[in-house]
Amino acid sequence: MKEQIESMKQKAMEQIAKSENAQALNDVRVQYLGKKGELTAVLRGMGALSAEERPIIGSLVNVVKEELETRIKEKEAQFAKEELERRLKEEKIDVTLPSSKIRRGSKHPLNRIIEEVEDLFVSMGYDVAEGPELETDEYCFERLNLPKGHPARDMQDTFYITTEYLLRTQTSAVQARVMMANEEKNPIRVIVPGKTYRRDDDATHSHQFNQVEGLVVDKNISLADLKGTLEVFVRKMLGEDLDLRFRPSYFPFTEPSYEVDVTCFKCKGKGCNLCKQTGWIEVLGSGIVHPNVLKMNGYDPEKYSGFAFGTGLDRLAMFKYGITDIRLLYQNDVRFLEQFDRKDEENEIKY
Ligand code: DAH
Repeated sequence: MKEQIESMKQKAMEQIAKSENAQALNDVRVQYLGKKGELTAVLRGMGALSAEERPIIGSLVNVVKEELETRIKEKEAQFAKEELERRLKEEKIDVTLPSSKIRRGSKHPLNRIIEEVEDLFVSMGYDVAEGPELETDEYCFERLNLPKGHPARDMQDTFYITTEYLLRTQTSAVQARVMMANEEKNPIRVIVPGKTYRRDDDATHSHQFNQVEGLVVDKNISLADLKGTLEVFVRKMLGEDLDLRFRPSYFPFTEPSYEVDVTCFKCKGKGCNLCKQTGWIEVLGSGIVHPNVLKMNGYDPEKYSGFAFGTGLDRLAMFKYGITDIRLLYQNDVRFLEQFDRKDEENEIKY
């Protein structure tokens, strides 16, 4: 019996030594130590032994059992260690290798200009308002003192959708919306950046472009307020040393109306091809809000007065960044767009 157990142990030890993975090891365990295992069977058959033999064989079986278990555990630990080492080796990351380059996007020049204008006016206490691009004839024209059939409608080539609906030709449309929405008739200080549409398409005109409108309505607003505000606006955006010139003009929604010129920033007023030898460049339309506009939109012109202005943001961006074709602003060519990060660093105006 003893020999039988010893040779069983011998065989098991050999099988353990030979097993190459956890699965094989487990098979050995089941073969000898499992419920139906060979060593277990010996223990079960102990009843047939004599009283003297029973404790001797019993303790022998237990010793062998423990030995096998220990050996299996050792072997298991060895497999686990090998597996860990293999993974460490296989999954090793060399942090000193150069990484693949991530290309950074850059902000579109128009968005830069819009943000700059918004920051400036918000710092002066203005709100930023918005209005629909698909606008009604009423808000785009009628409420701005431009009734149907008014000759000044020819100033803007309009995309009509129906007789009532159109693509707004000017952010001025939002002037009427802001006034009409203000039921308490509180003072108004807003700017309105937004997309506008006209039937134009050449190097300096795009059928879709961007404007920013300004509207202030309060008691005792005068031309001095308009001039002071536009001076700050133009100088902060285009250069502190620039002069402004107010030229009488005509817009149906303002009276008096002005076009605002700024010293040509290319030749500093001496005369060049950019300013067509005049020394000045037109940048804005503006004026004192027409009493009819105040009245039509719910403000008593006897009590309130206001000023308004509007300018093309594309033109501002073109001046500021030296862009010669407006269509570049709408083609989203990365080679064009990525230059503006550098322009920012240089922080200078080029033509
Ligand atoms: N809306 C005008 C345009 O598109 C620009 C303009 C002129 C806006 C005078 C104004 C203004 O608010 O007072 O050409």
